[in-house]
Amino acid sequence: MPTVLARAPGRVEFIGNHTDYNGGAVLGAAIDRYVWAAAAPNPAGRWRLFSVGGAAVLELPSDPGTKYSGTDSWANYPLGVWRSLRDFSLPQPPGFDLLVDSNLPPGAGLSSSAALELAVALALVSLAGKTDLPPAQLAALGRHAENHHVGVPCGILDQGTCAFGRAGHLVHIDCRGPVFSHVPFPADAHLWIFNTREKHALIDGLYAQRHEECLAAAKTLGVARLTDLTPAQLRAGEGKLPPVLAKRARHIVEEQARVQETVTALQRRDLAVVGRLLTASHRSSQHLFENSTPALDRLVDLLEKHPAVFGARLTGGGFGGAAMALTRDRFTEADAVQIERCCAANHDRAPEMLHLQTADGATRIGLQAGGMD
Ligand code: GLA
Repeated sequence: MPTVLARAPGRVEFIGNHTDYNGGAVLGAAIDRYVWAAAAPNPAGRWRLFSVGGAAVLELPSDPGTKYSGTDSWANYPLGVWRSLRDFSLPQPPGFDLLVDSNLPPGAGLSSSAALELAVALALVSLAGKTDLPPAQLAALGRHAENHHVGVPCGILDQGTCAFGRAGHLVHIDCRGPVFSHVPFPADAHLWIFNTREKHALIDGLYAQRHEECLAAAKTLGVARLTDLTPAQLRAGEGKLPPVLAKRARHIVEEQARVQETVTALQRRDLAVVGRLLTASHRSSQHLFENSTPALDRLVDLLEKHPAVFGARLTGGGFGGAAMALTRDRFTEADAVQIERCCAANHDRAPEMLHLQTADGATRIGLQAGGMD
């Protein structure tokens, strides 16, 4: 019988591609697809993990060097959170049984990992008796687990959006603080996701390679972070960089400018401009940052031509995963099916389509004995 239930949403990266770990800004949306974590004390002091549909019960190892692999690798996220609680001087329950479930497609670039981290963190700290974990600390804890215990050098976009999500809003993160704020999501626009089903796995090394390229470009240009440069400053210094690093730097510096322009356009409710910025972001990923794939490019090509689509782009780390589209009211399920058919005719696997709503951030949703709190 669970005594604590917590829920954390996935996220869409609205715009701000790889700007987060470069000290820039991002806009994300928490979405109405979730990971749930239910936890109960284990009186024998064991630390046990279960997943709905998973075959095995996993026991957390006490040896700090141990990691899971293969079909059990999902357990590295709860394990990383468990270890991070100690790193953050937060209470760890002495023993627990933890069950997780999800309706977020894994590997689609919708942050199923951050949602898992935050749901597990909330469930475990609540079980240990601490019921107030501010969202900024929750986001920092999730990122710490991912950076230091899972081994992905991600920024704060995923965990920050998942912690600070608000229905009807986008989450704006100035990643230097980080400082979190909200921008209203336009009431007359819709978010669609087209998941290529090409599994994107940040752990595979391409994400870390891009991170290193950005650091190397910043170092050569004599700045701490690429987002310290304006587009004009970068143009003046670009000649010092090898061609590949110049492309990476241009993507980051121009993407940073696009995030600011998107916020302004959203405030003016100018969705045509927002759409153009989204598609420009994709083209920059495609040609400069080179983190897109042919299947993502084809989706964006098709979506861009559709009269009910404002703009489209890959969402998240890239190298597979999903494209998102910002659409008008009149973009329907039938339009989405048509896009799906065109992809299949192009010999791609038919994408999985999701019409998403913006959602609230991670929260503890229930307690035993007194019922729901
Ligand atoms: C992944 C990472 C984020 C961010 C995006 C790209 O989602 O986890 O921190 O870097 O890629 O913008």
